[in-house]
Amino acid sequence: MTNTVFKAKGLTKYFEASKRGFVESLVSRQPKIWVKAVDEIDFEIMPGEVLALVGESGSGKTTLGRMLATLETSTKGDLYFMDEKVSRKDYRRIRRQVQMVFQNPTDSIDPRMSIKGIVTEPLHRSDVGEASKDEQFATALSLVGLDAKTFAQRRVRDLSGGQRQRVAVARAIISNPTFIALDEPTSALDASVQAQVLNLLARIHDELKLTYLFITHNIAVARYISDRIAVMYAGKVVEQGPTEEVIANPKHPYTQALLKSVPTLKTHELVPPSGEVPSLVGLPTGCRFHPRCPYVMDVCKEKEPAMRRTGNVEVACWLY
Ligand SMILES: Nc1ncnc2c1ncn2[C@@H]1O[C@H](COP(=O)(O)OP(=O)(O)OP(=O)(O)O)[C@@H](O)[C@H]1O
Ligand code: SF4
Ligand SMILES: [Mg+2]
Repeated sequence: MTNTVFKAKGLTKYFEASKRGFVESLVSRQPKIWVKAVDEIDFEIMPGEVLALVGESGSGKTTLGRMLATLETSTKGDLYFMDEKVSRKDYRRIRRQVQMVFQNPTDSIDPRMSIKGIVTEPLHRSDVGEASKDEQFATALSLVGLDAKTFAQRRVRDLSGGQRQRVAVARAIISNPTFIALDEPTSALDASVQAQVLNLLARIHDELKLTYLFITHNIAVARYISDRIAVMYAGKVVEQGPTEEVIANPKHPYTQALLKSVPTLKTHELVPPSGEVPSLVGLPTGCRFHPRCPYVMDVCKEKEPAMRRTGNVEVACWLY
């Protein structure tokens, strides 16, 4: 029995701000400038758990999801999958066990491909026979509530938004994964379709005993789907804990500000606090939320607070 599906220790992803050519970078005297998209993050995702990841645009949520789905390498830090340390050479081995679903999943798909071709693509590199492939396609489609015969030869352009997202989920589950990172999977859908797809994702999670990282801007969605919530700010997780507890009693001033305006909003969208989001290139010293924080103290401007546990919740703030 594994203790964690994912464990991260100091997990970091920096992107070079302006990509230079090889020769250019050799002759340039200027130091490289880095976008600190994910900056020394520690977290765990337990088997069967849904961890919601929330935070403002540009805080590094998609980058973190892509790192777990092996679509992005880390700059430094350690990542463990099923309690085993992951290095780049393991990516191929674990790729079928970790899948990702995006907000507009069919954007990058060849519109000429059939639905069957799209959904069964993850099986192509394995030695699955045609009969078995047909069977797995039928099972995956039935799990997402689509009829395999009706949809097999259709094209993406013939499908509604909700059907497209069902196809993307079928593609993600066909290789029998352990974990799926879902990046705003219902945000582009109409409210009624959003609820259907959300119910479907919750049902599939239970039936297939999956583990999810669920990225969302919508607090009602996070509340409905997740067991725990992690709040990201400027490349850092600043608070994480049981969903109900974090929503009822947010500890970090950023979480408090994010949640403040929610009950008055019909849509339940998280609204960022006022003030500038820091550039991930030139981050503020100390606590990176300090220029926007109503409780800022001297220490906040100098020293970065480490993650500390208070009860069931972990929070990175000098107030605790
Ligand atoms: N391939 C890349 N090259 C350079 N910079 C990148 C790359 N991918 C992401 N970034 C930068 O990393 C930062 C974090 O981006 P990311 O997409 O992870 O944020 P996010 O929290 O998912 O935002 P949103 O809520 O808008 O989807 C941003 O500043 C972004 O511009
Ligand atoms: S560490 Fe200081 S500036 Fe940062 S959130 Fe806490 S009180 Fe505010
Ligand atoms: Mg994103």
